[in-house]
Amino acid sequence: MTATHGNAPAPIEVLRSLERIPEPGEAEQSFVRLHRNERQQPLPEWFIERLRTIVTSELLTSYPVADALYAELERHLGVDPGWVLLTPGSDAATKALFHAYVEPGSDAVILDPSYAMYSVYAEMFGARAIRIPFDESFQPDLDLLRASIVSGVRLVILANPNQPTGTLIAEDDLVELAGLARACDAVLAVDEAYHPFSSQTIVQRVHEFPNLAVLRSFSKASGLAGLRLGYVTANDELIRSLFKVRSVHDVNAFAIRCALEVLRAPEVIDDYVTAVQAGEDVLRARAEAMGLEVLPTAANFALLRVDARCDPAELVARLRQRGYLIRGPFTAPGLAPYVRVTLGPPDLMAAFADVLESALVEQA
Ligand SMILES: Cc1ncc(COP(=O)(O)O)c(C=O)c1O
Repeated sequence: MTATHGNAPAPIEVLRSLERIPEPGEAEQSFVRLHRNERQQPLPEWFIERLRTIVTSELLTSYPVADALYAELERHLGVDPGWVLLTPGSDAATKALFHAYVEPGSDAVILDPSYAMYSVYAEMFGARAIRIPFDESFQPDLDLLRASIVSGVRLVILANPNQPTGTLIAEDDLVELAGLARACDAVLAVDEAYHPFSSQTIVQRVHEFPNLAVLRSFSKASGLAGLRLGYVTANDELIRSLFKVRSVHDVNAFAIRCALEVLRAPEVIDDYVTAVQAGEDVLRARAEAMGLEVLPTAANFALLRVDARCDPAELVARLRQRGYLIRGPFTAPGLAPYVRVTLGPPDLMAAFADVLESALVEQA
């Protein structure tokens, strides 16, 4: 019998109960957006000028060619040809991992809280998500994580640094987890979307563990979120499996050329990472003076504990009225007292701190 679903045909079973958050529209563009961990400083004008010269008719009329970017990334990562796959955002690399490795009825291990799409993809591909909680000081339960990597698990995916907690799992622990995953034929995916805000990386270990995949993004430190480009590096067999599930020519030609320019001008990233670290110091000092706690972070965002001064939902609303968007309130375990703020350069963080201060003293 044909299933019906309102006026349109019903989608496949797993999608019927799956909820997706709508993507933001133009209404948000007039705000200072400290809620999506985007770059908060314009790319340098000389760099934009360079990108402008990339657009030619040939670029637009041809299907994309990525050989030069692959070669540059392989050199940059120290891996052989065939060990990298470009994806339209690192999110697409996550989806490809679920698509290629997770079957209905199998298990996927994720941190909770973490990047929201991991549980969406687990549901979409019919997996049971095994969620590893954090303790009160936002350390993940590593014993439970180790104990959860057993037969039936196909994918363990860990954002490192994690989002929204900003926490890091140490390299030694990741190496141990990679070994455990290997023993039960599971992939360990380490999502380094926030590299190099944290310089810690496990990339070199892909040579040691054929089941290790490392994901990177051009959206965060590189500042190219609008171009939708990321990549995954892993053993070439694993990469071939991911290649099979991607849509054809899924990464666009302009993004490919712009990424090449970023890799050739590392100061565009390095200067921004330095500015964000200085901005974090400004925000921390100002917030602490207001009686707010800023959790340590290895990324370009931080959790602020605000409940001693204001209800988090109320604070988010007051900041919105003042033209600033931040993330919250959270429903995830342990996160209710916090809001998440994208970090930026010192002048922006000082301006945000002024607005935060006025929002805190507003009479309810
Ligand atoms: C941990 C993590 N992974 C992946 C992504 C997706 O990044 P991209 O823009 O490369 O798809 C995000 C975006 O916020 C993220 O926080």
